[in-house]
Amino acid sequence: MPRLLVYSGVFLVSLALLPLAWLYRAQASSSARPRIHVVPDMDNQAYYRAQTASGFFADGRAMRAPVEGTVSRDGLDEDDAYYRGKDGDRWVEGLPGGLDEQQMLRGRERYQIYCAPCHGGTGAGDGPVARRAAKLAEGTWTPPADLTAAAAVGRPDGELFDIVTHGVRNMPAYAAQIPVADRWAIVAYLRALQRSAHGRLEDVPESQRGELK
Ligand code: HEC
Repeated sequence: MPRLLVYSGVFLVSLALLPLAWLYRAQASSSARPRIHVVPDMDNQAYYRAQTASGFFADGRAMRAPVEGTVSRDGLDEDDAYYRGKDGDRWVEGLPGGLDEQQMLRGRERYQIYCAPCHGGTGAGDGPVARRAAKLAEGTWTPPADLTAAAAVGRPDGELFDIVTHGVRNMPAYAAQIPVADRWAIVAYLRALQRSAHGRLEDVPESQRGELK
């Protein structure tokens, strides 16, 4: 066999091994560059980012408004009494979801977290925030209302629920922090506070009055 043929044969076989060596190296090492994508499937697609412009739609916005009347999943808050404290254009009286001891305890806990800092543990409007603000006397503070006073006692349950939901005058809204069921539980506990603030001897069962007399 001619030498030239042998040498060029060896050379070509070595050359053929190079791509394999290169592949092996690519598999074993890491690189900052993205892999070569031979079959792109649908991995990379053109898309719009939120709040950007688009020439495609007539109004020039990339984002589409929901179709009018769309209700999100679990978003059909149809029960006006429960979700808004309203019966037609009147406030509801009573708790639309009913009440048990568990909810009352929940209401006390939630009240103490969300309301007592301003309105105080008994609802008298003397919570630590209110007392501190009064002490600072900066002149910008509206004192929290006394929730056991006639004004609050006279409000229907639905209106109290609405006040927690949307706030009132200088008081902020709590809808974002307190879910609907907890807002009703707070209203129930508020009623208990009002009841205890205006308790009379007749409210105590006869059998338990012994020491009071
Ligand atoms: C950051 C302090 C603050 C917190 C917390 C707060 N309130 Fe108030 N609340 C006020 C102030 C201040 C007013 C009086 C607003 C005004 O008259 O401008 C008020 C008024 C009210 C009134 C109206 C009283 C009336 O008869 O006019 C109700 C009811 C009430 N709050 C309930 C609650 C409940 C329930 C919570 C807990 C979910 C709560 N508030 C949490 C500050 C607070």
